[in-house]
Amino acid sequence: MLKTTVAGIELEHPIFNAAGPLDATLEELTVLGESHAAAITMKSCTLEAREGNPEPRYQDIPHGSLNSMGLPNLGYKKYIAFAPLLKKYNKPIIASVSGLSLEDNLTIIQALNDAPVDLIEFNLSCPNVIGKPQMGYDPEQTDDVLGKIMHITKKPLGVKLPPYFDFVHFEQIAAILNRNNVRFVTCINAIGNALVIDPEKEQVIIRPKNGFGGLGGAYVKPTALANVRKFSELLNPTIDIVGVGGISSGTDVFEFILAGATAVQIGTTFMKEKHGCFERIEREFNELMAKKGYETIEDVKGNLKTL
Ligand code: DHB
Repeated sequence: MLKTTVAGIELEHPIFNAAGPLDATLEELTVLGESHAAAITMKSCTLEAREGNPEPRYQDIPHGSLNSMGLPNLGYKKYIAFAPLLKKYNKPIIASVSGLSLEDNLTIIQALNDAPVDLIEFNLSCPNVIGKPQMGYDPEQTDDVLGKIMHITKKPLGVKLPPYFDFVHFEQIAAILNRNNVRFVTCINAIGNALVIDPEKEQVIIRPKNGFGGLGGAYVKPTALANVRKFSELLNPTIDIVGVGGISSGTDVFEFILAGATAVQIGTTFMKEKHGCFERIEREFNELMAKKGYETIEDVKGNLKTL
């Protein structure tokens, strides 16, 4: 057993589900409760329920996935009502918040203060709501909104970040996250607005936004590792990092922990393999740690060597 913590909340092992896939209904969340996932992350919620974008809006592709779901969710009140029903699984419950305005976010975060959720992941990086840019790419707005959110929350709150690609942008965002004392960061969200083409049909593969959507899976793993590594260099050491992006094996988990993560989330692989992936990946990770002679996550965390 390789226990870990995120923002002071204990996990039995470091592997659980990413916000998004198969986590929007009580049935799906129950499957997660019964699975080997170390925590239950619930679908990013908005103030009101949403149908999301027109289908097809998710496609498996050879080394990952493309999605433009458009935040289909039951509305935050339902997730607050689900939380006590999921307590019996004895694992942390994570609410993902993705309101469409500052007011909506404040309303949801305030309501979560009295709900039995353990962590809040505030989503700065949904690429799929038409007409809504990803807040994580606007440092001023991020700073302003985080200041207001951190002021009212009583829960350990972290942020889900979009992928960054330039060191200057990492530095700008890290300074804002440090200043606002967020408790953890989850990186990365999908690489937004990717385009996948079916050459046979000479056509895009998803309907929303004329085919543009969030890229996940193995394609994004090197970018995700780079984000985890850079933030582990730049953030206050009290801010935990949750890695996500292209994890499909115990070796992938090991790499993210070497880069500086204390825990990891599984998105595309969960979508493709369903809940059995958590047990398999945990077993592979345990075997690799034992083979290498490491006994704790701390033995590995951040110890990436350079040349
Ligand atoms: C959706 C996609 C995301 O990457 C995200 O962070 C939130 C929502 C979606 O399309 O539903």
